[in-house]
Amino acid sequence: MGQRETWATRAGFVLAAVGSAVGLGNIWQFPFKTSEYGGATFLVVYLVAALGIGLPTILAEFVIGRKSNLNAISAFERLGHRNWKWVGVLGVAIGFWILSYYSVVGGWVLRYIGGSLTGAYFADPASYFGSVSAGLDALALHALFMFLVVAIVAGGIEDGIERATKLMVPSIVVILGALAVWVFTLAGAGPGYGYFLSPDLSTLSLAVAFDPLPSFSGPLTAVIPFAVSQAFFSLSLGMGAMITYASYVGEEQSLFGDGLTVVVFNSAVGILAGLVVIPLLFVQGIEPGSGGAGALLISLATAFAELPAGRLVGVVFFAVVLIAALSSAISLLEVVTAYVVDTYGAHRPRVAAALGGLIFLLGIPSAWDTAWLTWFDTLAYQLLLPLSVLGVLLFAGWVYGRPAVEELLSGSSLGVGVGVAWLWLARTVVILAVLLTLWLGLQTL
Ligand code: PHE
Ligand code: NA
Repeated sequence: MGQRETWATRAGFVLAAVGSAVGLGNIWQFPFKTSEYGGATFLVVYLVAALGIGLPTILAEFVIGRKSNLNAISAFERLGHRNWKWVGVLGVAIGFWILSYYSVVGGWVLRYIGGSLTGAYFADPASYFGSVSAGLDALALHALFMFLVVAIVAGGIEDGIERATKLMVPSIVVILGALAVWVFTLAGAGPGYGYFLSPDLSTLSLAVAFDPLPSFSGPLTAVIPFAVSQAFFSLSLGMGAMITYASYVGEEQSLFGDGLTVVVFNSAVGILAGLVVIPLLFVQGIEPGSGGAGALLISLATAFAELPAGRLVGVVFFAVVLIAALSSAISLLEVVTAYVVDTYGAHRPRVAAALGGLIFLLGIPSAWDTAWLTWFDTLAYQLLLPLSVLGVLLFAGWVYGRPAVEELLSGSSLGVGVGVAWLWLARTVVILAVLLTLWLGLQTL
C-alpha cells in the first residue's frame, strides 16, 4: 500500500464533504419528495432527522474514517472484526446502486444545459422532458455524465475533487437565492409557501400499539421512511462516502465542527431549492404530488421560458446543478475506487474507468424508462439506506464504542461530555429511530 493522499488544505475536507452532500438530493429530490409526501410535515420530519439522526451518524462515519485511515470496507475490519466489513460492503454496494440512477438524472441536467442554450425546451417544457428523459437520448447523456465523473476521480483527490468543489457552494447559494426572490414576486406563489413551511400540527402524530409486535398508525407512518431516508441520502450517509473522505483527514481537525457545517449547509441548500421549486409548482398550477421525478426540471424550465434572459439564466442554473451533481457523484465513485486501489494497489485511473463502466451498465434500465429509476430510488430509500445506516451506528456505538469518543474529540476543544452524550445517543435513541424508519419503510415497500 503506497503513501495515502491527504487533503491539501484544512478547508479541503469540509469543502469536499459539503460537495458530496449538496447535490441532486437537495435540488432535485428534496423539493420533489417534499411536494410528494406531505409538504411542511415532510420538512419538519426531515429537519429533525437531519439534526437528530444525521448529525450523530455523520460523526460516526467521520470517526470510522479518520481513525482507520482506510477505505470504507477495510475501516470496519481494522477497527472491529472481519465480519463487520459487511457493513462496509453494503455501503459500497448501495453507492454503486445509487450512482447508477443518479448519473441518469445528471444526464437530464446535461440535456437541460443544452436545451437552455438552444432554447429547445422553451415552447413546451413538459413534452420536452417526456421526450428526453428516457430511451436513447437519456442513455447517451447518462454515458456522458459517467464519463465526466470517471475523468475527475481518475485525477486523484487533490487535483480532481478539491478543485471541483470550491466554487460550487457559493454559486449554488447565490443562484438559488436570486431565483427564490424572483419566485416570491410571482402571482400565485403564496399558497406554495404555506404548503412548504407551515405544518398542520395534526399531521405530526404517530400512534403505536403492541400486539405483541409494535404496529404504528397515523399520518407520520407514510412520511417518516421518505423524510428520514432523504436526510441519509442528502447527507451522503450509509454509502461509505463520508468514511472515505474522512480517511484523508488529519487528527488536528475538529470533526464535530465539520459535521455540523455539513448538516447545516446541506439543509439550507435544500430549503432554498424548496423555496424556488414549490411555489413555482403552485404558480404553474401543478398539484403537489403529481409532478413525479421530472417535476423539478419541468417547473424550472417553464419558469426560465417566461423569464427575460431566460436562456442565460437557464444555462447558468443548470450548469451549477451539474457541478453539484458531479461533486456528489465523484464521492460515490471515490468510495469504490479507494477500496480497490487500497486493497489491490491497482492503477487509479484504470480502476475508476472500469467501475464507472459497470455503474453505467447498472443504470441502463433507469435511463431507458423512468419507472425503473423510480424503482431503484424507492428501494434505496425504503430498505437499503436505513439498513446501512443502522449497521454504521451499531458498529460505531456498540462495537468500536468508547474509543470513538476520543477520536471524535481529537482536534476539538469540546468537553468529553459532548462526546459521551454523542455515543449514548447513537447507541440508543438514534438506533431506535433508524429501526422505526426501516420498519415503516418495509411496510410501505
Ligand atoms: N448527498 C448527495 C446528494 O444529495 C448524493 C450522494 C449520496 C452523494 C451518497 C454521495 C454519497 O445529491
Ligand atoms: Na444533499
